[in-house]
Amino acid sequence: MIVGVPKEIYPGERRVALTPAVVPLLAKAGLEVVIETGAGERAGYPDAQYQEKGAKILAERSAVFAQSDIVTQVLCYGANDKNGANDLPLMRKGQVLVGFVRPLGSEESVQRLAKTGVSSYSVELMPRTTRAQSMDALSSMASIAGYKAVVVVADELPRIFPMMTTAAGTITPSRILVIGAGVAGLQAVATAKRLGSVVSAYDVRPAVKEQVQSLGGRFVELPLETGDAQDARGYAKAQDEAFYAKQRELLGNVIAESDAVITTAVVPGKKAPILVTEAMVKRMPPGSVILDLAAERGGNCELTRPGEKTVQHGVTIIGPINLASGAPYHASQMYAKNLQTFLQNLVQDGKVRPPESDDIIRDTLLTQNGEVVNARVRESMGLPALQVVSS
Ligand SMILES: NC(=O)c1ccc[n+]([C@@H]2O[C@H](COP(=O)([O-])OP(=O)(O)OC[C@H]3O[C@@H](n4cnc5c(N)ncnc54)[C@H](O)[C@@H]3O)[C@@H](O)[C@H]2O)c1
Repeated sequence: MIVGVPKEIYPGERRVALTPAVVPLLAKAGLEVVIETGAGERAGYPDAQYQEKGAKILAERSAVFAQSDIVTQVLCYGANDKNGANDLPLMRKGQVLVGFVRPLGSEESVQRLAKTGVSSYSVELMPRTTRAQSMDALSSMASIAGYKAVVVVADELPRIFPMMTTAAGTITPSRILVIGAGVAGLQAVATAKRLGSVVSAYDVRPAVKEQVQSLGGRFVELPLETGDAQDARGYAKAQDEAFYAKQRELLGNVIAESDAVITTAVVPGKKAPILVTEAMVKRMPPGSVILDLAAERGGNCELTRPGEKTVQHGVTIIGPINLASGAPYHASQMYAKNLQTFLQNLVQDGKVRPPESDDIIRDTLLTQNGEVVNARVRESMGLPALQVVSS
C-alpha cells in the first residue's frame, strides 16, 4: 500500500505529517511512502532525507493524492478551514485519509468531507486508553503548545522569570498562573518552573492537584463543587453558567496577583468557557500578559482575538492559533510517530482492518462510503445512530 504526504497548505503551517525516520518502519509494515516535494522543508526535513530512507518524491500534489491508498496530513479539510477545501477534488471514494479533521467543529465541513467518499480517520477521536497513548496526537501537540506558550510569554513579559540576586539588587521571580492543567497546562507549569518563575495552576478537575504539585507548582483551590467535573474519558465536563460565574468571581483575586496567565481550559465539542473577564484584566498589573491557548475554540479570556496580539487596559493578550506549528521539527517528529503507530495498527496484510475489529479504528473512523459513520459525531450532529450490520 502507498502512504502519501502532501505539503501542508494551511497559511503559516510548518509541520509535516511523516518524518524520514518513520519511512523504514512503515516499509516493514508493507507501506511505501510518497512525499510531495518540499513537504518537510519548513519543519527541517529536506527531500533528500526522505529519499535516503526510501521514500519517493513527487513534484505534483495531485500525483500524491492520485497514487496514495492512504493520505496523511496534519491539518486535513475541516481542521484547515482556510484553504483545505482545495484538496476535496483530489480525494476519491475508498481512499483513506488520516489527520486532524476537527470532527466536532463545523458540521458542514464534516458532511462535505463525507461526500468525497473517503474513509477519514480523525486523530482527535483517539480513545484515551493505554494502548492508544502512542497514537495520541492531541496530547503530542498539546505538549508542544504548552511549552511554546511559556516561551512566547517569557519573550513578551517586561520581566524576567527567575529570581536574581545581583550587586544591583534582588529581582523577585515572576508569578505565572496556568488555568487548565491538562496536557498543555502541565507542560506549561513544568516549563515556567524550569525558567525560575513561581507557578500556580488551577483546574476544574481536582484529580490534577497532585500532578501540579509534583511539577513544583502550587495548586489553586477554589471553594467550588467539582464532584462531577470529569467525564469517563478524563475530559472536563461542561458546567452551567452559575458555576462559571462563581468561578470567575473566585479566580479574580488570583489573576490580579499574577504577572502572566496562560489559559488552556477547553471542553470537547463546546465553545471554551470564559474564565477571564474584562474586569479581571483591568485588575492585572500593567505590562502583564495573557496567553490564551483556547483562542481557537473561542478563548478563555473575554478580550482574546483569535490569531492576534492586542494590548488592552495595559495588558498584552495573545490568542495564538496553531502554536504547535511554532516548533515544527519536534511537533512533526511526535506526530509522525503517532501516525506510524496508528497505521501499523490500521493496516494488516496489505488491507485496512474493519472498524469492528478494533476500538481504536472504530472510534477514529469519521466518514466512510459517503456518510458520517462515527457514533459520537453523529450524536453531536443530532443524526440517528447507524445500524450495525455484522458481516
Ligand atoms: N491515553 C490517556 O489516558 C490520556 C491521553 C491524553 C490525556 N489524558 C488525560 O486527560 C485529561 C485532560 O487532558 P487534555 O489536556 O486533553 O484536556 P483538554 O485539552 O480537553 O482541556 C484542558 C484542561 O482544561 C481544564 N478545564 C476545562 N474547563 C475548565 C474550567 N472551567 N476551569 C478550569 N479548568 C478547566 C480541563 O479539565 C483540562 O485539564 C488529563 O488528565 C490527561 O492527563 C489521558
